Amino acid sequence: MPLIAPSILAADFGRLEAHAREAVEAGADWLHVDVMDGHFVPNLTIGPPVVRALRPLREETGALLDVHLMIEEPERYVDAFAEAGADIITVHVEACVHLHRVIQQIRDAGARPGVTLNPATSLTTLEETLPLVDLVLVMSVNPGFGGQAFIPSSLGKIRRLRHELNALGSNAYLEVDGGVKPENALQIRQAGADVLVAGSAIFRGDPPVAENVAALRNAMTLEV
Ligand code: DX5
Ligand code: ZN
Repeated sequence: MPLIAPSILAADFGRLEAHAREAVEAGADWLHVDVMDGHFVPNLTIGPPVVRALRPLREETGALLDVHLMIEEPERYVDAFAEAGADIITVHVEACVHLHRVIQQIRDAGARPGVTLNPATSLTTLEETLPLVDLVLVMSVNPGFGGQAFIPSSLGKIRRLRHELNALGSNAYLEVDGGVKPENALQIRQAGADVLVAGSAIFRGDPPVAENVAALRNAMTLEV
């Protein structure tokens, strides 16, 4: 069963816990936390205190806190996010000179390491580190903002990554982030994704969050 990870970037920050809770109570599996530094990406979002504020909800519901660091020199903040309660910490291959060391640092800090790559970055950059991680995130938009359109060539990248993970015998999650909607969820799942991140499709627009979670769940579990 593929997992749904709502991106809280699209939630109402004025009532973040309540909005995130709606998604989890409607059946969302994880909470995806987008951290941006205004350098690696042209936007600023949130830091460890927000992860800490969501930790009671995580304890109560079991919904893992899936922290996506879109920041330069992520090694400077890994320990703070782990200490705040991140379950999974994902770093960009483009932001790490010593990616191998950062993966180890995440594990030593007690979190599960993930790696991610921008749409323009080749899967070959992960060749040496794929066996070491618990999650690989395929960015299907250029990171920095919610509400962008899914880049169609991401589907081929997801398929190739699925093939590589299978060939390695890896149990790492294959997560996809950016422009995920009920309209493309089935294709993304069929390409080999285990975890679908969705921000605007869950938290924006008129329908209640619970309906949006159900629509995404139904879309990706339909058989063609
Ligand atoms: C993009 C973020 C995504 C984004 C997803 O930089 O990493 O998690 O918030 O938002 P939607 O689902 O609206 O594309
Ligand atoms: Zn993200």
